[in-house]
Amino acid sequence: MRFLITAGPTREPIDPVRYISNRSSGKMGYAIAEVALEAGHDVVLISGPVNLDPPRGAHLISILTTDEIYDAVHQHAHGCDVLVMCAAVADYKPKNVSATKIKKRDASLSLELFPTRDILSSLQNKDRQFLVVGFAAETNDLEANAQRKLQTKHCDVIVANDVSRADSGMESDQNEVTIFFRSGETKNISRAPKKIIARELVKIFSKYARKMFDKKNVVITERV
Ligand code: CTP
Repeated sequence: MRFLITAGPTREPIDPVRYISNRSSGKMGYAIAEVALEAGHDVVLISGPVNLDPPRGAHLISILTTDEIYDAVHQHAHGCDVLVMCAAVADYKPKNVSATKIKKRDASLSLELFPTRDILSSLQNKDRQFLVVGFAAETNDLEANAQRKLQTKHCDVIVANDVSRADSGMESDQNEVTIFFRSGETKNISRAPKKIIARELVKIFSKYARKMFDKKNVVITERV
């Protein structure tokens, strides 16, 4: 199968030397890419700025801003069988980007932020022929928030993780996830290294995609 995986943070510039970003390390997305390649799948990896070596064999596309990741996903989504939106995409960007460095003044400073476009929501289409997997990073009410994202973002699967814990989730080498399927099923993968979690996820995504596409009589491209 052809996997399109996004990973890492985005950066929204404020001025030439400053930006808004988040703590995503990219480790989960890179682990999924690595495991998918090991399992014989083709991988296009759209990555924000991270300190990780790209897995050998992945077609790497580097992005910085939410507009760049939006365009890259739209450009490649129609050629994939499974889209895994693991990237931590910024929800807001500065309304105005200063062309010169904003100078320090002895007064408070306000930044006006504008909402960015939601990539998952933009892929809504009833004839969509690829599995759409979203991730949900939650600090509270994990199940309710993940279920809401599954519906409002029109995902087939949502992988939710609790990012309030220091020993799991963002920046950590470990994770614990709960998977919510559009069919109503849920599945928990208990705390383990991200590579182990990734192995389970890739198996689940391939199986679920196959089931979905068998139903729709869509031919899935296999690598020979
Ligand atoms: N996502 C997206 N486009 C955005 C923001 C997020 O496609 N502009 C995707 C992420 O890649 C992830 C999913 O939406 O797969 C959920 O991201 P998350 O940060 O958990 O949720 P948000 O939609 O940002 O909502 P909130 O910050 O309120 O939890």
